[in-house]
Amino acid sequence: MIKIEHLKKAYPNITPLQDVNTEIHDGDVISVIGPSGTGKSTLLRCINLLEKPTEGRIWVNGTEITDPKCNICKVRQKMGMVFQSFNLFGHLTVIENIMLSPVDLLRKSRQEAYDEAMRLLRMVGLAEKALNYPDELSGGQKQRIAIARTLAMDPDIILLDEPTSALDPTMVGEVQAVIRDLARTGKTMMIVTHEMNFARAICNRVFYMDEGGIYEDGTPEQVFDHPVKEKTRRFIHRLKVLELDINSKDYDFLGMAGEISTYCNRNQIPPRMASRIQLAFEELVQQALIPSLESPIIHTAIEYSQEEQATKMTVQYNGPQADLTRSGDELAQAVLKGAAAEITYNTQEDRDMANQVVLTVRS
Ligand SMILES: Nc1ncnc2c1ncn2[C@@H]1O[C@H](COP(=O)(O)OP(=O)(O)O)[C@@H](O)[C@H]1O
Ligand SMILES: [Mg+2]
Repeated sequence: MIKIEHLKKAYPNITPLQDVNTEIHDGDVISVIGPSGTGKSTLLRCINLLEKPTEGRIWVNGTEITDPKCNICKVRQKMGMVFQSFNLFGHLTVIENIMLSPVDLLRKSRQEAYDEAMRLLRMVGLAEKALNYPDELSGGQKQRIAIARTLAMDPDIILLDEPTSALDPTMVGEVQAVIRDLARTGKTMMIVTHEMNFARAICNRVFYMDEGGIYEDGTPEQVFDHPVKEKTRRFIHRLKVLELDINSKDYDFLGMAGEISTYCNRNQIPPRMASRIQLAFEELVQQALIPSLESPIIHTAIEYSQEEQATKMTVQYNGPQADLTRSGDELAQAVLKGAAAEITYNTQEDRDMANQVVLTVRS
């Protein structure tokens, strides 16, 4: 249904898309992943012509939309876009936001647009908010409204650009649930997301973007579990394993807690386990190791396995060979034991960081 040939998008200083070639089939649900700045948003924006491609051709359902004679407005109506920031009209109620385009662009009667809007609001679980203004809603609710508004145009394809990344972690789930339902209806979708388990649950295809194009394309199993190319492998590893390095007593503790929280989100680690990971890190690294080491060098790797519902935290540190999981006060000890199902210590002289603690976080 969508065919892209030699798509190039150049900005004055940078050319994020050098040569994109692909075919997207009806009903494909594609997760687009990749490091920041590799042109994921640019690709979505070129597909619905929010950006004018520098070179190359795009066909949608047999119509070449890059043809200058093509009616862009008609094309855009067939493509819904959901952004990170919801872009709702603040001066309109929820229901008016959803009815606006169907009435203005599709020339639907107000009654017809209203009925359809209410149906969609029920679908996203927000019928009771029809008469509220966007400001009165939470971020997660606003994004669900934005999705309903997109659906009101009955698009052939829905493009979602990091739809949950601006949300408070507690609201990610409700928006993902709506997107998951949508993916089951057979709609063609492209979604930029870093949330690996979510992507795995909804998509049949993954595009890994790098080096100016689609660098690797495959099923979620292929790309997430057996990536073929080196850069994909490194990127997937970074999604799966969080590595934290500390080289000073004055390291940014809150910054690292934030990284852990982002990691837990991305991997959809259940909240209880996520808070135990934070606790284990705080008690082991911040309370036990940092005060005991003169000039700390600490490497922490956190790896969550969805299959086993388990998280392994490996902490390596310098200094004399000593099991510091037993230092710290009694309360800290108790907290650490509460968070960890198992703690093992071992030491190896020839390593820079001679001490290693492996901790299994309780589920
Ligand atoms: N309108 C623009 N003008 C100039 N440069 C842009 C514009 N939009 C994006 N870029 C640049 O293009 C590159 C790719 O951006 P983007 O598609 O947003 O990446 P991603 O979504 O993968 O993070 C970035 O280096 C970005 O700064
Ligand atoms: Mg982007």
